Amino acid sequence: MNIPLIFFRAVVVLFPLFFIKPALGADSVLEFRASGSLVNKISLAELKDKIKSHEINVFNSIVGKEKKYEAFSIKDILNFVYRSQWTSGKYSDIAFTALDGYEALSQSVKLNEEGGFLAFRDVDVNDGWELVGKKKVDPGPFFLVWTGKFQTTDNAFPWPWQVIQINLLRFEDQYPAVFPTGVKINSSTYRGFSTFRKRCLHCHSMDRMGGKVGPDLNAPQSIVAYRSKHMIKEIIKHSSKYRYTNMPDHNDLSDSDLDDLYNYFQFQMTRKTKHH
Ligand code: HEC
Repeated sequence: MNIPLIFFRAVVVLFPLFFIKPALGADSVLEFRASGSLVNKISLAELKDKIKSHEINVFNSIVGKEKKYEAFSIKDILNFVYRSQWTSGKYSDIAFTALDGYEALSQSVKLNEEGGFLAFRDVDVNDGWELVGKKKVDPGPFFLVWTGKFQTTDNAFPWPWQVIQINLLRFEDQYPAVFPTGVKINSSTYRGFSTFRKRCLHCHSMDRMGGKVGPDLNAPQSIVAYRSKHMIKEIIKHSSKYRYTNMPDHNDLSDSDLDDLYNYFQFQMTRKTKHH
């Protein structure tokens, strides 16, 4: 995602934020896009009319407890809006955009698993929602949650809140700077990219495309240019051994997984020098 687009989105959302918020609940609207083009805008009332809702129990690790929500199965929503288009293979990923422009990405195959729900009401609270995250925000109008024990952010099941837009996309169109163009799918570099996309992209960027929690790993200089291979692998595997940090340990990654990541970083560095 590029910066101007975020600002654009931020401007667009100011209106609903300040003027429609008091009437939230029945009138929240969810926008559906494919490759950025508008497909449909559907109100919560209409969704309730067309799609079966469920009362679900989830362990919400963001608030650290069991929660009860009223929700739609995300698969039901996607099938209703996009029919077979979202599983056709044409689109690899689905982006969930929040009120503040934050974009969470999920692979379509993950969303096609059982367990994903788009919550629209917090059953534990009389009016409104229990606040979430470090900034204690209201997670409405829509909050993507997962009921499976292993369906966590670490395993590439995103939990975005304040969702206002859903967009089908091809990963290589949306994140060209992250995608290793021209690389064979069965190569080490491609495997490294796959791991990066699933486990790291929501926090790290490549050439300023991607998450902003951790540092960019390719710009202005590639991580490979100023850290040794040994240190890069060490920090990815167990950063907590070296520093107090928000970077999680990745103890489950094998030595060859780490080599794959390193090869991907190296590829990204050489590709960049070719392009500039
Ligand atoms: C929850 C967010 C988060 C995730 C997920 C995450 N990181 Fe990080 N990472 C950070 C933060 C924050 C820093 C900067 C602080 C630090 O270095 O401890 C960082 C630092 C790094 C550094 C630089 C260390 C240095 O000192 O130069 C590398 C390399 C890195 N991460 C690689 C990865 C890789 C590869 C993955 C996926 C396997 C990953 N990170 C997943 C947040 C994250």
